[in-house]
Amino acid sequence: MVKICCIGAGYVGGPTMAVIALKCPSIEVAVVDISVSRIAAWNSDQLPIYEPGLDGVVKQCRGKNLFFSTDVEKHVCEADIVFVSVNTPTKTRGLGAGKAADLTYWESAARMIADVSKSDKIVVEKSTVPVKTAEAIEKILTHNSKGIKFQILSNPEFLAEGTAIQDLFEPDRVLIGGRDTPEGQKAIQALKDVYAQWVPEDRILTTNLWSAELSKLAANAFLAQRISSVNAMSALCEATGANIQQVSYAVGKDSRIGPKFLNASVGFGGSCFQKDILNLVYICECNGLPDVAEYWKQVIKINDYQKSRFVNRVVASMFNTVANKKIAILGFAFKKDTGDTRETPAIDVCKGLLGDKARLSIYDPQVTEDQIQRDLTMNKFDWDHPIHLQPMSPSTVKQVRVSWDAYESTKDAHCLCILTEWDEFKTLDYQRIYDNMQKPAFVFDGRNIVDVDKLREIGFIVYSIGKPLDPWLKDMPAVA
Ligand code: NAI
Repeated sequence: MVKICCIGAGYVGGPTMAVIALKCPSIEVAVVDISVSRIAAWNSDQLPIYEPGLDGVVKQCRGKNLFFSTDVEKHVCEADIVFVSVNTPTKTRGLGAGKAADLTYWESAARMIADVSKSDKIVVEKSTVPVKTAEAIEKILTHNSKGIKFQILSNPEFLAEGTAIQDLFEPDRVLIGGRDTPEGQKAIQALKDVYAQWVPEDRILTTNLWSAELSKLAANAFLAQRISSVNAMSALCEATGANIQQVSYAVGKDSRIGPKFLNASVGFGGSCFQKDILNLVYICECNGLPDVAEYWKQVIKINDYQKSRFVNRVVASMFNTVANKKIAILGFAFKKDTGDTRETPAIDVCKGLLGDKARLSIYDPQVTEDQIQRDLTMNKFDWDHPIHLQPMSPSTVKQVRVSWDAYESTKDAHCLCILTEWDEFKTLDYQRIYDNMQKPAFVFDGRNIVDVDKLREIGFIVYSIGKPLDPWLKDMPAVA
């Protein structure tokens, strides 16, 4: 029986390994983590992450060929294939701070693998890493190997949170990079054999190590760039009276462009896009390519612009002051169908409004009060360091209340801001909400999900990103 161990039981390690266990009953899969609370949650009925379909997959395999454990060394020692799916955050201090990837967790995992191994192993980079990381890992492993042979593969993960299980069941592609030596090719084949149990062969791509590593950074940069492009257009739409949804539809009909990922919004979030682009920028700078670095930096600049533009719009529309006004925030997760708040645009929008002394009442169907308070008190980039995965008592922001109901959250509010596109926000009783709000009542839709005409009929003053402005908003000071 082939044994797989995955170091890192997070948003990638957990679902990916659960699907491998489900699709490959002859493989024993152990997912290990240093976080005791995370492993306890994986072994309970309340999984540590919310992901549609995940519960069912875990329930089918857990205790049969899928195990979650904190005994990292034992499972690494026994495995034939070791996936490393630990976090690779942005460095917060030292050389490359604010841009470069922090490989502390990766390096310590690699040293531990070298330390405890007693048999040859294939080590798979699942985390997103800077191009050429495999070379560094290879050096650490071979210099500490005590005669044991390691083959390094790069197998970046392309799943999207919220649709992770669907993406893992039917991936657009699986990418495996390895050395062009007979041993390297043998290792690629061994990993290919795992995926081939459910993924059609023509979707399993093999490349050299560096292409695989760079493809992941490139894919995320392209995706984020699409969002920043449509968001940049949304600002121009508001200035000209064009409608971003109509523009996106027309643009997306071109088969060279395609219709997906063209929704304007308050900005992209999630643990990956910003971190991976910053990392790409750093790599370009280090390789003497400042113009290429500058090009990709703009993607993040536009994203920051979009978030502050939204805050400015809210404040400017409400007579240039939100001090002491109750603002309802609907949605805090970075996208629907996940409870993940890492780099969610809601953090910057809420901090912006708090900076103007607003009182916030936040509701999200999947995010806890503890998490929201923690996010609003934490410094940029601090969230992705494992110490924060452990329970801690956060200091709280007194102007913030967290509510478990959209109606409660909007009661007596001056405005409501929709920051996540949860389906339930489309079908709220907006008449009831309007009746219980202060007047004039404003809706700022950061995800373009409400029926603008219907809400205006009710009496709301409505702002929807990239759509023709409400006459009220046109009279207010311009936002930039
Ligand atoms: P995560 O933070 O949810 O999980 C990482 C886990 O690794 C944590 O539970 C942490 O306790 C554990 N860990 C860290 N050092 C460890 C060690 N030495 N031994 C054992 N466990 C250790 O992170 P997530 O979101 O799963 O991301 C992991 C990697 O995958 C990152 O490089 C990320 O960029 C990449 N990725 C993430 C995607 C996403 O949608 N979240 C999608 C594709 C790639």
